[in-house]
Amino acid sequence: MTDTETNKTIRVWDPIVRIGHWVLVAGFFTAYFTGDEFFQQHLWAGYVVASTVAIRIVWGFIGPKHARFSSFVRSPAAIGAYLGGLMTGRAKRHVGHNPAGGAMILALLISLAGTAGTGMALYAVEDNKGPLAGIITASPQQAEPAYTGARGDDDDDAEGETGEHEGGEEMWEGLHSAFVYLTLALVALHVGGVVFSSLSHRENLVRAMVTGMKRPE
Ligand code: HEM
Ligand code: HEM
Repeated sequence: MTDTETNKTIRVWDPIVRIGHWVLVAGFFTAYFTGDEFFQQHLWAGYVVASTVAIRIVWGFIGPKHARFSSFVRSPAAIGAYLGGLMTGRAKRHVGHNPAGGAMILALLISLAGTAGTGMALYAVEDNKGPLAGIITASPQQAEPAYTGARGDDDDDAEGETGEHEGGEEMWEGLHSAFVYLTLALVALHVGGVVFSSLSHRENLVRAMVTGMKRPE
C-alpha cells in the first residue's frame, strides 16, 4: 500500500476527494434554495457544482488509487453481492468505496452534470447567456401556435408539438427540474447507504470523508 500510515489509521481520501465532496454538498443545496429568487447566487452555486464535477471526473482518471474510477466501478454482480451481504450482515468491508457506493457515485456525478447542463441550456434559451449561449438557442418557430400542416423542411423537431412554449424554454425548464429531483432522490439514497454501511461495518464513514483517515485492512 502506498498510503501514509499514522497510528492505526491510513489516509484513504485525498484532499481533492474530501474538499470536492463538501463543496458539492454546499453548492448543490445553495443552488437548490436559490433557484427561485436569488438568481446570481444560483448561477454561481451552479457553476461551482459544474466545475467540481468536472474536476472530480478528471481526478477519477489521474488521481490516487482510491479516487480512481477503476478502483471502485464494479460489475452489477459485485454490486448485487455487496447489497445482498448488507442484508444478511455479511457484506465485505472495503477500505475505498464499496461496490454499491461506487455505482451511486457514478449516478450522482451524472445527475449533477445533467442538472448543471440543463441549467446552462435553460439560461441560454431564456437569456441568451452562459456557456451554452449561441450553442443552444431559442427556436423562433416554436413560439408560434403549434401546427402540424406544413412540413416544409424536416431538419427540425417541429412535428406537431402541442405543449411547448417559447423556444424550448418549457422543455429545458422541465428537464432542469427533473434532474434536480433525480439528484435529490439519489442524495437521499446515498446518505441512507452511508448510514447503513457505517452501521454494518461499525465505522464512521462520514468522519472519514472529513479527515480522510480509515482503519486499514
Ligand atoms: C448534495 C449532496 C451530496 C452529494 C452530491 C454527494 C456526492 C458524493 C460523491 C460524488 C461521493 C464520492 C466521493 C469521491 O470519491 O469523490 C460521495 C461520497 C460520500 N458521501 Fe456524499 N454527497 C452528498 C451528501 C452527503 C451527505 C449529506 C453525507 C453525510 C451524511 C455524505 C457522505 C458521504 C460519504 C461518507 C462518502 C464516502 C462513502 C464511502 O465511504 O465510500 N454525502 N458523496
Ligand atoms: C447544479 C445545481 C443546480 C441546482 C440544484 C438547480 C436548481 C434549480 C431550481 C430548484 C430552480 C427553480 C425552478 C425549477 O424548479 O426548475 C432552478 C431554476 C433555474 N436554474 Fe438552476 N440549478 C442548478 C444549476 C444551474 C446552472 C449551472 C444554471 C445556469 C448556468 C441554472 C440555471 C437556471 C435557470 C435559468 C433557472 C430558471 C430561473 C427562472 O427563470 O426563474 N441552474 N434551478
